[in-house]
Amino acid sequence: MPGSTVNERVAGGDGQGDAPIADAVESFLSEGVAAFTTPGHKRAAWLSDPLLERDVPLATGADDSQLSQGVLARAQALAAELWSADFCRFSVSGSTHCNQAFCLALGAPGDKVAVSRALHKSTFAGLVLAGLEPVWMHPEVDPASGIAVGLSLREVERALKEGVSAVLVVEPSYLGVMSDLPAIIELAHSAGVPVIVDQAWGSHLGLHPALPRNAMQMGADGMVISAHKTLAAFTQGALLLAQGSRLDRARLDGAFETLNTTSPSASIYGSIDRSRQLMAAPAGRELLARALDLARGFRVEMADVQGLSVLDEQAIAHHPTALALDPLKLVLSLAGTGADGFVVERDLWEAGLRLEMADRETIVPLLTIGDDETSVGRLSAALRESLERRRRRPREPAASTVWRLRAEIGMLPREAFFAPHERVAVSAAAGRISAETAAPYPPGIPALAPGEVVTAELLEALQAEAAAGSRVAYCSDPTLQTLLVVAR
Ligand SMILES: Cc1ncc(COP(=O)(O)O)c(C=O)c1O
Repeated sequence: MPGSTVNERVAGGDGQGDAPIADAVESFLSEGVAAFTTPGHKRAAWLSDPLLERDVPLATGADDSQLSQGVLARAQALAAELWSADFCRFSVSGSTHCNQAFCLALGAPGDKVAVSRALHKSTFAGLVLAGLEPVWMHPEVDPASGIAVGLSLREVERALKEGVSAVLVVEPSYLGVMSDLPAIIELAHSAGVPVIVDQAWGSHLGLHPALPRNAMQMGADGMVISAHKTLAAFTQGALLLAQGSRLDRARLDGAFETLNTTSPSASIYGSIDRSRQLMAAPAGRELLARALDLARGFRVEMADVQGLSVLDEQAIAHHPTALALDPLKLVLSLAGTGADGFVVERDLWEAGLRLEMADRETIVPLLTIGDDETSVGRLSAALRESLERRRRRPREPAASTVWRLRAEIGMLPREAFFAPHERVAVSAAAGRISAETAAPYPPGIPALAPGEVVTAELLEALQAEAAAGSRVAYCSDPTLQTLLVVAR
């Protein structure tokens, strides 16, 4: 199942108006095929679920068993073109798969790579798989709000001096803030080092003039996007994209394939293909324009809720590390209302609404091209009602400072992963090597990562955060009474 470059596009007149895989799925479904192949349910909805009727595999479904029609290659080439890349692979395992494929393609075990400490756990797992040594780059954090406001060039320069073979960043951040990526890329390229951007939350970027450009357009060598997060792909649908010659293309393709299932769903691929087709058409830009209007309207609507603050360009403008904000990202800070984000989330849940993220200080409702006035109106009304009910005395935002305490690397993430582990009381954990991650929210930057040496100061600070009601994510005992460490 080869990757594809725009130049290699299979002849057949495919243009952005076409959707090769999605159309092949439809043809298959309309042809009344008797399939003596997987999936074993044979699209018999009565066996378990109506969705089975549309569950089509790539091989023997949207393509023949030899995958000789190049349907996937054509669809990937079209996606590469839309996202300004020259190489693309579709994934049915999310940005998780794509991040890990990049890690496996970047170096040999023991090589150093510069990694933003805002990394997603999938990249951490990628470091374990590939045996890479991270040189951490710590994003700046706004002391007032606790929000990460981008990576400084100084931090990237420092990492480059350590002889890294790649720079891995997360842009935009989970909260929509983008660093000065063009400057970071220029710096890395002048040192001959490729830049891989985890843009899982930014598959819509670069597709409308009012949105920031995407990482490929800014000159990155690799980019990962979750089309299922902000576009119209089925859950799990994601894309790995690359351009230029700094990455070994064959190695990248091989790494992607190594981690890929041998039974990808053409239904998921088809939904990525349709998403691309939609976003390339005027209708896609109109949907983005509508979503941008809805986000703007929501900000205006929330402006008169006393004490509530919605992150906007102005709030990050004085941070030289922050280049832009994704205008579709709605980050609501509750401290000024005195309300507890966990309680507000529960109210909304009971009112039939779900939030993408909530901690005590911050809530993030995800607004996308799938929303309309009705859905956003429902959110505004429920939020207003909950905030009025839960309003308390305003408090200072509890911006965690724990992440500032820098732990020392004791062993490679891979060594910590494979070493035997034991659970110890935190009182006995100082001096031991952690086998797990602890990331206080906000800003969600790990204060401790597997392979790092635990200090008494760090533990005390983490426990205090947990006791104060902050969310300390990723650790197996969120109360931090115990910690998983590498056994002696
Ligand atoms: C920054 C980042 N990268 C990667 C991922 C993984 O994405 P997926 O769920 O598509 O595997 C996430 C998931 O939330 C993420 O926040």
